[in-house]
Amino acid sequence: MIKINENYLELQDSYLFSTVAKKVKAFQEKNPNAKVIKLGIGDVTRPLVPEVIKAMHKAVDEMGEPETFKGYGLEQGYEFLREKISEYDYKKRGIDISIDEIFVSDGAKCDCGNIGDILGINNIVAITDPVYPVYLDTNVMAGRSGKFNKEKGHYENIVYLEAKAENNFEPDLPSKVPDMIYLCFPNNPTGTTLTKAQLKKWVDYAKENKSLILYDSAYEAFITEDDVPHSIYEIEGAKEVAIEFRSFSKTAGFTGVRCAYLIVPKELKGYTINGKEVALNGLWNRRHGTKFNGVSYIVQRGAEAIYSEEGQKQIKENINYYLQNAKIIKNGLEEAGYTCYGGVNAPYVWLKVPDGILSWDFFDRLLEKCNVVGTPGVGFGPCGEGYFRLTGFGTKENTEEAIKRIKEKMSNL
Ligand code: MLT
Repeated sequence: MIKINENYLELQDSYLFSTVAKKVKAFQEKNPNAKVIKLGIGDVTRPLVPEVIKAMHKAVDEMGEPETFKGYGLEQGYEFLREKISEYDYKKRGIDISIDEIFVSDGAKCDCGNIGDILGINNIVAITDPVYPVYLDTNVMAGRSGKFNKEKGHYENIVYLEAKAENNFEPDLPSKVPDMIYLCFPNNPTGTTLTKAQLKKWVDYAKENKSLILYDSAYEAFITEDDVPHSIYEIEGAKEVAIEFRSFSKTAGFTGVRCAYLIVPKELKGYTINGKEVALNGLWNRRHGTKFNGVSYIVQRGAEAIYSEEGQKQIKENINYYLQNAKIIKNGLEEAGYTCYGGVNAPYVWLKVPDGILSWDFFDRLLEKCNVVGTPGVGFGPCGEGYFRLTGFGTKENTEEAIKRIKEKMSNL
């Protein structure tokens, strides 16, 4: 008799963005003439930049010629791409990351989930609340969460790090020491950041407790302020305690193309039950090589193209376009009487919903009255209740129209 992985039965609801999509589909079927504007899931709308398209076309042609055709590539990624990542994303910021610490993959979402393969099942996991749901759900699937407590909205074995307006979205160091700590800055969903000094506290804490930080910096390209670290490795000692997740999805519009990478520094160690040190780089290399066959050559050539001078200029134009949208949302909502966070170093604006309204009710009202889709804060965790996320990834026209409708129909004055 085939047994299932019963951990899956501990998952709550469906994946957040699937629930949102289902609700929107039902609304559209009932209201076929409504012009729905989607500012929910953080999916890009600008096309790939010309430098990427040019590089991918060239790579397609190479695949059609016997002399340049490529079969399987290195599972870890082609060296031409890893060299650019090492040079431009790290060395230029004074960080020494060598190419054998870089693992190219098809997405940070997959990496965030897959990394658990090399980590013990009894590790205590800490996540922020609210949080990008993938960190939590993948640990529930793996069996690290324990049972769900409906009253608290929490899993019994997960350490929740509260991030709300009252603590400026900077979670306190936990009193119960976790082994795995997920941090995402600039943050999804709140759009807020930590300064170097604030991030240093986490690095020092992880060092002291031999914990591992799983640092998601998928939104680093949106940082506009000086004291905000782009990489956790800007903090001294972080290479001994942190894995970093990066993605081309939001940086270069690759959500439909799929390319990301993971940094596992060589000095980073995990421990056996008997306390013996084991390098995580070697474990991940083994896992990646066994379960993954590499990102396509064409896609990696496309990713490489963003590092040329022209490529950098072109992707920055798109990033600025989305940041401009975030500003339109933030300024517009503030004029309409809402309190907003984020949107300065991130594409996400996190707004406080009017007192007494639940975030799913706000979702329904916004959809019905304004035909605008956002993401209810509680979908990211109990501390997200009373908040709502809008993304700057729409088109400028739709963003302006959405804010106009909210101002007209849902001002919070
Ligand atoms: C989000 O909307 O939070 C993100 O687009 C989801 C993701 O990157 O997987």
